[in-house]
Amino acid sequence: MNIKNKVKALLARMTLPEKVGQMTQLGTFNPTDDLSLIREGRVGSLLGVKGAETVNELQRIAVEQSRLGIPLLIAADVIHGYRSIFPIPLAEACSWNPALVEETAAIAAREASAEGIQWVLSPMVDITRDPRWGRIAEGAGEDPYLGSEMARARVKGIQRNDWNNRPYMMACPKHFAGYGFIEAGRDYNTVDMSIRRLREICFPPFQAAIEAGAGTIMVAFNELNGVPCAGNGWLLKEVLQQQWGFEGVVVSDWDSIGELVEHGYARSREEAARLAIESGVHMDMQSLVYHEHLLDLVRQGIVSELVIDDAVSRILSMKFQLGLFDRPYTDPALASTILLAPDHVQTARHMACESIVLLKNEGNVLPLKQTIRKLAVIGPLANDGDALLGCWSGQGRSSDVVTIVDGIHTAVNAGMEILYAKGCGTAEGTENEKTEAAAIASLCEVAIVVLGETANMSGENNNRTSLDLPSCQMSLLKAIHDTGTPVVLVLVNGRPLSVEWAQLHVPAIVETWQLGIQAGMATADVLFGHYNPSGKLPVTFPRNAGQIPIYYSAKKTGRPQMKHYVDANVEPLYPFGYGLSYTTFEYSNLVLSKPSISPQGSLKVQACIFNAGSMDGEEIVQLYICDEFASITRPVKELKGFWKIMLRAGETQTVEFELTAEHLGFVNNEQQFVVEPGSFRVWVGPNSTDGLEGKFEVDS
Ligand code: GLC
Repeated sequence: MNIKNKVKALLARMTLPEKVGQMTQLGTFNPTDDLSLIREGRVGSLLGVKGAETVNELQRIAVEQSRLGIPLLIAADVIHGYRSIFPIPLAEACSWNPALVEETAAIAAREASAEGIQWVLSPMVDITRDPRWGRIAEGAGEDPYLGSEMARARVKGIQRNDWNNRPYMMACPKHFAGYGFIEAGRDYNTVDMSIRRLREICFPPFQAAIEAGAGTIMVAFNELNGVPCAGNGWLLKEVLQQQWGFEGVVVSDWDSIGELVEHGYARSREEAARLAIESGVHMDMQSLVYHEHLLDLVRQGIVSELVIDDAVSRILSMKFQLGLFDRPYTDPALASTILLAPDHVQTARHMACESIVLLKNEGNVLPLKQTIRKLAVIGPLANDGDALLGCWSGQGRSSDVVTIVDGIHTAVNAGMEILYAKGCGTAEGTENEKTEAAAIASLCEVAIVVLGETANMSGENNNRTSLDLPSCQMSLLKAIHDTGTPVVLVLVNGRPLSVEWAQLHVPAIVETWQLGIQAGMATADVLFGHYNPSGKLPVTFPRNAGQIPIYYSAKKTGRPQMKHYVDANVEPLYPFGYGLSYTTFEYSNLVLSKPSISPQGSLKVQACIFNAGSMDGEEIVQLYICDEFASITRPVKELKGFWKIMLRAGETQTVEFELTAEHLGFVNNEQQFVVEPGSFRVWVGPNSTDGLEGKFEVDS
């Protein structure tokens, strides 16, 4: 019998309370009073249950003690690794390597599955241009094209079929929609933006995730243009389910159905239940509003049981697809062989290397030479395993992390002495600590200074009004700089930081984000040249928070040359797509296959890239376009393609892109995707500001 018929047959046997039970997810599981709910079939999913034994125990109650034996869906926030913690997603996006990102997502899913989890509440695919927002750490940055590639890769990794050619894990792209455009960078705050802009910027990663087969979607906390997403029928019914044909499960974010009352949108929890179910939310995470009110709403004829049946059918279908009815239990012995498996750790190191972005390297201070006799390693984050795990670190443990000091120790030869000093705390420091650190630096030939943010300075509701390094850290950096010892600044952070002083005064700056369990090894690999840094920024770095929002795909405006501040430079500190290498890549011979194409036509764009340096290296070649004149003004540049290529020293490669209507079109105010005739500019280059430029026409 196929899944559709199995669902139909099971649904026909279910009582209304059992149906509503499937639509209820408990977020904080309290065994004393929730076991009876499971036994009565009044719970469909659990979140936050830890350990294979506990999962099996609860699953056994659902399967063997409830009337119909419907298994529970066990969910968890697995955002960048389960126990093998990878770089934060914003760091992974710097790799511009979807295949590798897919691999880390697959490993995370495999490890989670070993502990009985079948539903990971990721990837977070919210586009944002506001680094004040703590959750920028969880996403793939500012651009819908790169964000879509990352979303697709992560869903494919998470939902990779198992040995029975069946998905054993469901992904949950989140948070639908517009969450990254909250006002003032304050989490949960108001989102008010044009539908056209929502479609152009925020929707593409969700559409890519759904095209990749995402089984579920999570709704955002925020209101969107006056209607909270959890009660937004236009968003969840009309767009997601009718226009996009999404047939999976829509789950609310934590308590957000109950929050329809706080929003001032529902007058009561009972009305919240009606609004949410009518808007297309199939499962209620944690608020218990469905559990409390749906039965009465159906019995009073206010909500049709057919609506309930649709939601329950989707949930049951997910459980059948996952094979939960056949294999509800996990093998507790699996975890010991799968969690932190050597190949997982090796992949973590590889991913961490590709996530690192070289921001400055004046006078080729880097890579460090093994002839150095004394090397200073200074800073509060040089030896902080917790910070390197980043936000949402799941089952990660600080003890699993190779810190930056440790990594450097493993990378140096016997003749090099490492002198370490903390120098200050992340938030405060003393004159003595600073003086001691400066004294050590003055004895050394190079000083590695590791500064930035702890894990809880970004992530959910950890927003900042400033992007500056904390003042004690700046004071330490200046003290080390004043010793005259060349400084290599290593950043550990979950968001872009405004390190303008460092850019002006420090010879080398390495952006390492929060790289997970192999942070120290990867950082040392880059510092000593065992890996030639290849990362490129997926988000613009502002010079200061006053510039926010600042992003590369801005509009020309009527006075492009007039845009300035009286008190600051108008340009970003580092642009989208920027990142240096230890070698140099030269771009030449931009060739377009035709001077013009029809709106349905396609155009090939080629360019040659030459590794002019003495070191092999990877280059992320980027393709941008500009539709110069259109019925809706278009950005000065839009990313429409990229290739990551390895070039040996002295090697030249030709890369080729193909531009078609999907790259050249845009959403107009009638919400239609259109390709308009006219002149287009095209660039192939190393980042969003430099590159070879060409022109072509789209014929009418
Ligand atoms: C949180 C987050 C969401 C997460 C959920 C469950 O508040 O917004 O991303 O998956 O609750 O922990």
